[in-house]
This record gives sequence, structure tokens and C-alpha cells, in this order.
Amino acid sequence: MELQLPKANKIKGKRVIVRLDLNSQETDKIHYRFLSTQKTITYLLKNKAKTIIILTHLGRPESDKHSVKINQFDCYNEKLSLKVFKSVLTKLYHSKVFFFKYSVWSDRFEKYFQSKKLPRIILLENMRFYLGEDKNDTNLAERIAMMGDVFIDEAFSVCHRKVATNTAITKLLPSFFGFNYWLEIKNLDKILQKSKKDLVVIIGGAKIKDKSEILIKFIKKSSYILIGGGIANSFIKAAGFEVGRSYFDEMAIPNFTKLDFNKIILPLDFKVLEATGSTKYKMNSEIGTMDKILDLGNLTVQQYINYIKQAKFVLWNGPLGYIEDERFAEATKLLLEFIKNDRNRKYVLGGGETLDAIAQFAPSIFKQKNVFVSTGGGAMLWYLSKKVNN
Ligand code: 3PG
Repeated sequence: MELQLPKANKIKGKRVIVRLDLNSQETDKIHYRFLSTQKTITYLLKNKAKTIIILTHLGRPESDKHSVKINQFDCYNEKLSLKVFKSVLTKLYHSKVFFFKYSVWSDRFEKYFQSKKLPRIILLENMRFYLGEDKNDTNLAERIAMMGDVFIDEAFSVCHRKVATNTAITKLLPSFFGFNYWLEIKNLDKILQKSKKDLVVIIGGAKIKDKSEILIKFIKKSSYILIGGGIANSFIKAAGFEVGRSYFDEMAIPNFTKLDFNKIILPLDFKVLEATGSTKYKMNSEIGTMDKILDLGNLTVQQYINYIKQAKFVLWNGPLGYIEDERFAEATKLLLEFIKNDRNRKYVLGGGETLDAIAQFAPSIFKQKNVFVSTGGGAMLWYLSKKVNN
């Protein structure tokens, strides 16, 4: 992929549309994904872009039961509206951000963007309120492209999805990559060249279907794949264990019986929430029908650390447990603690929830020399999986 960065002469006096990925459960804080956009936006401001129009998404409104159809949005969800970002971005960019709350299909949109005098930075509403976004719809891309002269993709973490605002739009406007996108690709390529051997992959988190498909691509190239988070429940359910009331998706693991379980390592024990509301450590075989698996047990974490000690290169995406509840953040914290004190191997850590976990429990990792922190979760795994298989 040829990665062209924007040049000053392409920016000056122009309306620049920038696709960011600010997707995170923490919507009121300046977190890592926000920070990673700063260089590009500051560059655009400095180089006198006339207006910067920010596009991003939040959550998955299409499949959220609280979404409704309203005012020319295909779906709308108050909780996933981007109005909350206005003050966070204003603080981050030291420049007032205006939030345009109307649909791109509205008359107001046309009128507003026809006006010669626009604010310096405009944030549009959640791109996933338009069904055309995920369908890479040209009509939607055209409607959006109408308001700009130049397009910049600064959303590495969504590069594994072909959407209207990262694919169709590039056919309509001169397009460039943002500085963070560029940095992600350069770093991931460099790390991979050096560390194709002795790779251990740790996969946790909640996006079971996406990740199970990607992890299968890593089997040939890695020494071990360690499974945690919601995806572990699906694996042990498929292996015939009881998972009680735990979150799982059995269908997400195709050809389970054909997988190489010398390489794919499943948890031995878990921390569960019992029907009574108390927590307990249990072995796989002890999980009851009323239990909810919410974290890995200590035996498993120790075993996983032993595998990691055999690696030269470790890739981690997705917390090992339900870290939103402190009682189930233990395994993730133990692993972060190990990484924080380890200088013997290279790490690539990434994904929205993983970034939240690092920020919350081990922020020094962001500055650690043997760790590259990627904004991408699924995107980072997808990108690397393509490369390791070449
Ligand atoms: C992410 O958080 O990894 C990206 O924003 C992509 O989100 P998605 O998995 O909902 O497409």
C-alpha cells in the first residue's frame, strides 16, 4: 500500500474531510485514540486548512436495540451521538469544535455547507447512523464528499472494514493518510520483519466473531495463541464444557474440531459470578449452569505468562476479563503488570478496550520502548495476519 501523507500545498485554503476513529466506551475523556489524531489535526490547522470536517463512528448503532429512525438518519441512538465529543475535541485541538447535528441527507446540510463562512473545525454526527456507511455506499460517500476538497484517512483502527468513509470516498476526492495511520503501518511492518519467529498471540475481548476468524489465520505462524475474554467462553463451550449464563457465540468458531489445540491454548480456570452474587474461582469442569464466566483464573494467567516467556514477540488484543467491573479485571492487571516489568521481548498491544485497560492499570506501558501500542484492535490483527501469511 502506498501511503501518501498530506502536503502543505494540498491543504492551504482547502476544506479537508478527515476520517478519525474515536470509538471508545470512554466518551468524556481524552484517551489514546483521541491523542493519536492530534498530530494530523494540528498540522491541518497550522497549514491553514480553511475548514476541517471530522467524520468518525461510535459503537454499533445498527445492531443496538436502543436505536431508532429519526430525522433522515437511518438509525439514531442518543447514547451514541457524537455531541459528547465536542468539548473533548475542543480541549484537545485548542480550537473550537462545532458539532453539526443534522443528517447529511437533510436540506440543512446542503445549505450549511454551501455557505462560504464555516467554522474552522466541524464534527459530523456518528457515521454509523447511516446504513450506507458499512455498505461502502457511493451515494453516501458522494453526499459527504460534496462538502470538501481533500480527504484524509486517519482511522487505522477501522482499516479492516471497507466503509463509505474510508473506501468509496477515496474515489471522489484527492486522498491522503494521516500521520498516525502512517506510523501504525510503518511500525507494524518493522516489528514484523524482525520478529516473524517465536510469536505468541493473546486474544481476548468481546468481538468474538471478528476475532475468531482472524486468529485462525495466525495458527500457522505463531507458536501459541492464548485465549481469554468473551472469546474463551465460546471456545470452551465448543469444547463441551458448561458455560452457564456466560456470554458466548458457539457459531463463531468454524471447524472447531479441526483446529490445532497444541497451539491454541484454552483457559484452565476462571473467576465466575455465581447466582448468589458472589465471585468464585472455578476450574473449567466446575462451571455451573447459573455461573457467569467473567475473568480468567490465576492458574491460567500463570500458564499464559509461561508461554509468553518462550516468545520473542507478543501480540495482544482484548482484555482477558470483564474489566468494566474491577472484580473481573484481575487477570488483565496481572498480565499488564508482567509486561510492564518485562524488557526481554517485543510487544504489540492494541484495540479500544486494551487501550482503556493500559490507561487505567498500567499507563507507563504507553512509553515503554519494547512495546508498540496500536490504536487498532481488529484492524491491527487483520493487518498483521495478512503480512504473516505472505
Ligand atoms: C474498533 O474499535 O476496533 C474500531 O472502531 C472498529 O469497530 P467495530 O469492530 O465496531 O467495527
